[in-house]
Amino acid sequence: MPELPQMVEVKKVVKETPEHSSYYFDFPKGASAQPGQFLMVWLPGIDEKPISFSKISSRECAITVQCKGLWSEKICGFGQGSKIWVRGPYGNGFSLEGVKKAIIVAGGCGSAPLRPLMLKCLQQGIETKVVLGAQTAGKLLFRKGLEGELGDNLYITTDDGSAGQKGFTTDSLKELLSKEKPDIVYSCGPEVMMKGVLDLCVKKKVQCQLSLERYMRCGFGICGQCVLDDLMVCKDGPVFSSEQLRKSKEFGKTARLKSGKEVSLKQYADWRQC
Ligand code: FES
Repeated sequence: MPELPQMVEVKKVVKETPEHSSYYFDFPKGASAQPGQFLMVWLPGIDEKPISFSKISSRECAITVQCKGLWSEKICGFGQGSKIWVRGPYGNGFSLEGVKKAIIVAGGCGSAPLRPLMLKCLQQGIETKVVLGAQTAGKLLFRKGLEGELGDNLYITTDDGSAGQKGFTTDSLKELLSKEKPDIVYSCGPEVMMKGVLDLCVKKKVQCQLSLERYMRCGFGICGQCVLDDLMVCKDGPVFSSEQLRKSKEFGKTARLKSGKEVSLKQYADWRQC
């Protein structure tokens, strides 16, 4: 696990939606990754941010970024041949052990870390249903590819009804859980949405694994910046089980700024977009 940033060259940029782009590059030498793990991506003079893999193959990987905020707007100006600095992979990733039937709930940018998981589930013959949600049709990430791969097992929701069912991903999950019991529900997206996913799963006695986001500095358990109760999101997560999150006092309610100050999720989200 390299802990010093390594320079990689962007091989390809794919515009996924008007505000999301994916950046493809070769894995740093000797590295490989599991779905749900992340890289610390450093843009000298700007900042370093944890970004999950949105594509993982034997040699190549990709990250997907929403062009919002100083760091993201900088990388969104990059093209083929641009240089970025990465270290990692870090974090635990999703576990597929013993899973035969899964529901994946992806909200907004949360689709990015779930993309490699969806593909791995399909490759392993796991019966997979995906709920893909966003505010509007234009913000649905990876929609075309997923329609081809999943057919009737893809359930689209948008807040404004511009594609799929009008409403939230949790409405579709509730409907699915009223008819069937999967071995697991995987989810990533806005934390208020994931709190809703957790509550539904607890009610239906279904296990879930949720991928969380917190402000990070080191990425590997040294600085304490990403603390969630007595856990470190970078090292103990970013993927947590329903058992862990049920006991959390902070999950779904608060997060910490760079200063360590605990604030509401809304205040945290506003700050992260700056
Ligand atoms: S980012 Fe430093 S401990 Fe998690």
